[in-house]
Amino acid sequence: MRFDVFTLLPEVFPPYLQVSILQKAAARGLVSFHVHNIRDYTHDKHHTTDDAPYGGGGGMVMKPEPVFEAVESVLGAPPVCPVILLTPQGRLFNQKVAQELVLYERIALICGRYEGFDERIREHLATDEISIGDYVLTGGELPALILIDAISRLIPGVLGDPTGAEDDSHASGLLEYPHYTRPPDFRGWKVPEVLLSGDHAKIVRWRREQSLRRTLARRPEMLHAAELTEEDQKLLAVLRKKEAE
Ligand code: ADE
Repeated sequence: MRFDVFTLLPEVFPPYLQVSILQKAAARGLVSFHVHNIRDYTHDKHHTTDDAPYGGGGGMVMKPEPVFEAVESVLGAPPVCPVILLTPQGRLFNQKVAQELVLYERIALICGRYEGFDERIREHLATDEISIGDYVLTGGELPALILIDAISRLIPGVLGDPTGAEDDSHASGLLEYPHYTRPPDFRGWKVPEVLLSGDHAKIVRWRREQSLRRTLARRPEMLHAAELTEEDQKLLAVLRKKEAE
């Protein structure tokens, strides 16, 4: 999968993309990252990328010309792939959106700076707008890295473990069960007996129960959309009853 990132701060990207899992994925040809500096597509002496808003008011607005020129010279006009604007006004990013986007062979991400984008970028260039949460950052660079990270790890082969991202919190619509590793006793805090038992079926049941308990306690609204078996429903009924007592 190929990512094309358009930004005024290209230097932000290599430190994160050139380490660990993403760097290995790129070295193995599973992903490629192409970061483009929007400023390279300006033509005035000062390489201007922002301007004052029509109608007055504070802050500066990202000019349309360099953004259109950058995206169209890399991706053609109209662009050959989804063009995603990172903005706090976009649809909320979550695991489901990551699963939807990993189906594309290529996506483009436009990172804003300043107070906002000229609306024509939104209307006539972007095909999608995504927010990573209900808070406002100084720019779209961290959100772009978050999308790249969450999407890349869903590509088969990117994670070392062949079962990969299947058990992740959110992948099944539930939070993940607790994990333990050696030692079995750390400062008197013991690993649950069942995990040391070697009884695989029992471990699977315990993990499912822990996922359900945790989701009920921390994110009960997720249970409405989760795929639940009859056994899950029964267990939840018991847990809810206990909670009500
Ligand atoms: N740019 C600034 N804040 C943002 C957010 N929450 N999500 C995506 N892009 C942003």
